[in-house]
Amino acid sequence: MSDVKKLFVKTYGCQMNVYDSERMVEAMGVNGYVETDTPDDADLILLNTCHIREKAAEKVYSELGRYRKLKAKNPDLKIGVAGCVAQAEGEEIIRRQPLVDLVVGSQAYHRLPEMAEKAGNGVQVVDTEFPEEDKFDHLPRGPKARRAPCAFLTVQEGCDKFCAFCVVPYTRGAEVSRPAERLLAEARDLVERGVAEINLLGQNVNAYQAGDWTLARLIRELAKIDGLERIRFTTSHPNDMSDDLIAAHGEVEKLMPYLHLPVQSGSDKVLKAMNRRHTVDEYLATIERIKAARPDIMLSGDFIVGFPGEDEADFQATMDLCEQVRYGQAYSFKYSPRPGTPAADRAHVDEDVKGERLARLQTLLTQHQVDFQNSMIGRVIPVLLEKKGREDGQMIGKSPYLHAVHMLADQSLVGTVVNAKIVATERNSLSGVVV
Ligand code: SAH
Ligand code: SF4
Ligand code: F3S
Repeated sequence: MSDVKKLFVKTYGCQMNVYDSERMVEAMGVNGYVETDTPDDADLILLNTCHIREKAAEKVYSELGRYRKLKAKNPDLKIGVAGCVAQAEGEEIIRRQPLVDLVVGSQAYHRLPEMAEKAGNGVQVVDTEFPEEDKFDHLPRGPKARRAPCAFLTVQEGCDKFCAFCVVPYTRGAEVSRPAERLLAEARDLVERGVAEINLLGQNVNAYQAGDWTLARLIRELAKIDGLERIRFTTSHPNDMSDDLIAAHGEVEKLMPYLHLPVQSGSDKVLKAMNRRHTVDEYLATIERIKAARPDIMLSGDFIVGFPGEDEADFQATMDLCEQVRYGQAYSFKYSPRPGTPAADRAHVDEDVKGERLARLQTLLTQHQVDFQNSMIGRVIPVLLEKKGREDGQMIGKSPYLHAVHMLADQSLVGTVVNAKIVATERNSLSGVVV
């Protein structure tokens, strides 16, 4: 087939971008493109970008620069920028990097096939609108290909919270929840294709509200799907941990005992300046309620150090909070001023101070992660087998707490849950034996 074209997609940022990239590949498949894993032989290169911190956004331009030679060799090559940098910078991207043929914002992906058709050979197209219609409804679906055992499913997008540091309300727009019926149909379809674990995604996933449907109700309904073994959701805002969602953690067996509940800072003063709209005590009270419902839950979090106005005492309060909660896993970042956000214009903490605080926080968080992993040695846990490992007979699975678990097992067991005894832990994974 001579008219098959090759599409190379590179994905940055959060899990929602991973989901979006999958959907774009599928849609472009219907339009005659097959995915390739190298840019070298591609007819269309698509960067699905992230704008959350300066480094993330700058990576995109250095990657684009590398495509100059490819374009010189193949003038028909089309280069597209999608995602949050596309949304935030729009035409500015083409001004900075004229190699780019198309810029498609995070809510306009259903227009991508048409845009790819038009763009190229000097024609540049930009679409960063927030259209009324749901991009996912209008993206064509591919044939029912087999899927890996773990899948993402975007249920909610956008954010109305406007934390003072964050670009997401601008790059993803207002909160929109997808209709429950459609999500249940998509989940059933995923399970038919071999998916055993679904991770429900949203920038504020626990604010999900579609008619009478809350996230808790959606989870309870998903749990009824035969063959779906595990349900997760991410990312949650502490203020949206409703009673019914907390109760679901105790009642729905398929809902994994893992909760990503970012707090960002352990100082009330900083939380207020961040516009997080809750105090440290309120956050801790929420965690207590969750633990009462599900005592074996593992918590994970996000932290920003060096937010404008953070002094040593505020930072120490963050360390204290971590000591108290003992996260099993956490992400931490130096504050990065983002254009257009309220905090960008404030007086900034010195970069060296930020770096030094981040190192101290990460040492503590790593220690807690290691402690949690060590506490699992000797325990028997259910592991969802995902794929072959590097060595012969080695398989890689997932613990209820999202750890990768290495073990010997038969390949025919991919997609099933087996009980494994944990025998060792490494930096970021566990080793087990089937029992
Ligand atoms: N919706 C999620 C967060 C999405 S962004 C939530 O509310 O928790 C993921 C993480 O990136 C945030 O939790 C925060 O820790 C970090 N982050 C966001 N903006 C940032 C910035 N300007 N500088 C540094 N880290 C940032
Ligand atoms: Fe960003 Fe705050 Fe919304 Fe999370 S809740 S996406 S950090 S604005
Ligand atoms: Fe990045 Fe956009 Fe996700 S800014 S973190 S890709 S929502």
